[in-house]
Amino acid sequence: MPRDTRRNEKSQPRVEPNARSTRRDLLKAGGLLVAAGAGAGIAQSAFAQSSPTSPPPLATEVSPRYFPRDSFVPEISLGGKVAVITGASRGIGLATGRALQAQGVTVIGTSRLPAYYSGHPFPLLTLDVADPASVDAFASQLVAMLDGRSIDILINNAGRLVVGTAIPIAPQLAPLFESQAQLAMETLHVGHVRVTNRLLPLMSQSDYSRLLFTASVAGTLTGGSDLSEANGISFLSTYNSGKRALLAYANSLGMFLKVSGSPIQVSTVNPMFIRTTLADRLNPIFLEPVDTEGNSQNPYLQAFLDAMRAITAAALPASFVAETYAQLLQMNAPLPNVVTGSTLEPYASQCGSALIESVWLAENAQAPAPLGPAGAGPLE
Ligand SMILES: NC(=O)c1ccc[n+]([C@@H]2O[C@H](COP(=O)([O-])OP(=O)(O)OC[C@H]3O[C@@H](n4cnc5c(N)ncnc54)[C@H](OP(=O)(O)O)[C@@H]3O)[C@@H](O)[C@H]2O)c1
Repeated sequence: MPRDTRRNEKSQPRVEPNARSTRRDLLKAGGLLVAAGAGAGIAQSAFAQSSPTSPPPLATEVSPRYFPRDSFVPEISLGGKVAVITGASRGIGLATGRALQAQGVTVIGTSRLPAYYSGHPFPLLTLDVADPASVDAFASQLVAMLDGRSIDILINNAGRLVVGTAIPIAPQLAPLFESQAQLAMETLHVGHVRVTNRLLPLMSQSDYSRLLFTASVAGTLTGGSDLSEANGISFLSTYNSGKRALLAYANSLGMFLKVSGSPIQVSTVNPMFIRTTLADRLNPIFLEPVDTEGNSQNPYLQAFLDAMRAITAAALPASFVAETYAQLLQMNAPLPNVVTGSTLEPYASQCGSALIESVWLAENAQAPAPLGPAGAGPLE
C-alpha cells in the first residue's frame, strides 16, 4: 500500500465541522471557493449569491465509513479470481484493475473505444452501458473470453459527470436538456442495471462472489440546503439523481440477493473528489450548450466547471478508490456502503470531506426525516 494512503485509523483525530466555522472556512476546506475564485473570479456567481444565515445544525454528528482503512488486515486472498470492471480505460477503473492485478486477479475491463487505449495493462472489451445493443454484444464477447469460467468480482464503475442548471436556460433548449438528462440516467443508473442483469447469470455461485458499484457521495446529496447552494451543488442535480438511483438499486439488489440465499455480496463505494478526467473537457454530459473544449458561455456554470476541474486536478489519487475496492474484496463480510475519503489533512481538504460533511448536516436539517441525537425530539 502506498505510504500516502495510510490515514484512516479509527483512533486518529477527526476533522470535525466546527460550530464556529464560517461559510468561508467551510468552502476553503473543500477548496471550491478558492478554486472557483482563482478560475473565474466568481464572487458573484450563482453559488455565491445566497448568503446562508443559519449554520449547519451541529448537534448531530456525521461519521462516514471512510475507506481505505489504515489498519486493514486481509481475510481473503484474491489470487486466481476473475474480475470484470466497467469503465476501466482510465481513472478509478484503471487504478482498480491495476490494484487487483497486483493481487493476482485476472482482470477484464471495458471502454467505449478500446482501440484508443493500446498497450493497456489488461484487456478491454467494447461497452457503452447507455446502449442496450452494446451491452448485449459485450455480454456475448465476455462469455467467449471467460471460456467457461465464472465472474468472481463485478465492479460497475463506468460513469460520467453530469452538469448544468436545474432547468433549461432557454425554452428552446428544453429538448437538449431532456435528452441529455435521459442519457445521464442511462449512463449512471439504467446502464448498470442492464449490465448487471446480463452478467448476474455469469457470476460465481461459490462462497466468493462480489458485485460492487462506484456510486458517489453526490448520490447522498440533494442540493437543497443553503450550504449546497453556496457550493454549486444544484449544478449537479441530475448527476446526484443518477447516483442516488444507483445507490438505491445496489442496496435493494444486495438485500434481495441476501434474502434469496445467493452468495453474491453487494457493496457500493462512494468516493469524494478523486483526481481523474471526470470533469475534463467534453467528458461530462452537459445539460446546456458548451463549446468544443467543454466550456460554457453561462458564467455561473463556467465558474462551477472551473471549480470542479481545479478540485479534481488536485484531489486524492484514484489509487485511494482502488485500495478501497481491494480492502472490501478481501473482507469476509464487506460493508454494504463506504466512502472513499479521509478525516485527516491534507487529505480532508483534497477530498473535500470537511465541506461535504457540513453539507450533509445542513441537508439533514431539512430532510423529510432528519436524524438527530436521541431524545432531542423533532427538529423544527
Ligand atoms: N473522480 C471523482 O471525483 C469521482 C467521485 C465520485 C464518483 N466517481 C465515479 O467514478 C467512476 C469512474 O469515473 P472516473 O472519476 O474514473 O472518471 P474518468 O477518468 O472519466 O473515467 C470514466 C470511465 O467510465 C467510462 N465510461 C464513460 N461513459 C461510459 C459509458 N456510457 N459506457 C461505458 N463506459 C463509460 C470511461 O471509458 P471510455 O471513455 O473509454 O468509454 C472511463 O473508463 C464514475 O462512475 C464516476 O461517476 C468519480
